[in-house]
Amino acid sequence: MAKFIILLSLVGLYFGFLAFAFEPSPLQDFCVADPSSSAKVNGLACKSPALVEANDFSFSGLHLPGNTSNPNGSKVTPVSVAQVPGLNTLGISMVRIDYVPWGINPPHTHPRATEILTVIEGSLQVGFVTSNPGNSLVTKTLQKGDVFVFPVGLIHFQRNMGTGNAVAIAGLSSQNPGVITIANAVFGSNPNLSSDILAKAFQVDKSVVDQLQAKF
Ligand SMILES: *[C@@H]1O[C@H](CO)[C@@H](O)[C@H](O)[C@H]1NC(C)=O
Ligand SMILES: *[C@@H]1O[C@H](CO)[C@@H](O)[C@H](O)[C@H]1NC(C)=O
Ligand SMILES: *[C@@H]1O[C@H](CO)[C@@H](O)[C@H](O)[C@H]1NC(C)=O
Repeated sequence: MAKFIILLSLVGLYFGFLAFAFEPSPLQDFCVADPSSSAKVNGLACKSPALVEANDFSFSGLHLPGNTSNPNGSKVTPVSVAQVPGLNTLGISMVRIDYVPWGINPPHTHPRATEILTVIEGSLQVGFVTSNPGNSLVTKTLQKGDVFVFPVGLIHFQRNMGTGNAVAIAGLSSQNPGVITIANAVFGSNPNLSSDILAKAFQVDKSVVDQLQAKF
């Protein structure tokens, strides 16, 4: 009996953790963000329901390709709470991603969201790396209509494998998934991380670190 109770409380703890690790369930129909409010909450304060309108739940332009003229050869167009205030407290958002041939969405993580992506044009190599100590690469080439999942927090990427442009649409399990692009965060922080630290961490000469820091 005692064992059973311990087991039950462990299960309770486990599910308690799960509940805390993700965005809480809404306590009302909606809480349309009021970005001008001075109230500080976890998310954004709600505007008065009397002032809420259909446009608070709407976004236009996702049929338009993003501008891919950049060194990545890709562009992410986000539709999260910053674009759609009605997403506040709802734990969901989306993106459109455009890629030129061989364009990449470089290795990055979303600290607050799992992502589910579908290819609507072209062909993409996608993948993620599992956490320590395995660091296994889980990768696959997707064709139009294929779907792939990037679990919350894991480093992932996409690369256009086709001869034409590629387009993907993805859903994310946060109103504000956040993004940490690995190269930018490590070599382009402000101020710089010490090149001593990075030279040791990457086991390269400091001149290599200086070169990378100058790029980001
Ligand atoms: C796309 O981005 C590039 C680089 O920032 C810029 O020079 C160009 O004018 C942009 N093109 C359009 C159509 O906005
Ligand atoms: C490449 O894309 C990432 C993620 O979208 C972005 O943070 C980064 O600034 C881009 N890098 C360049 C060189 O455009
Ligand atoms: C970081 O270091 C690089 C290379 O030494 C330098 O070009 C860059 O200006 C530095 N950036 C900051 C924010 O200190």
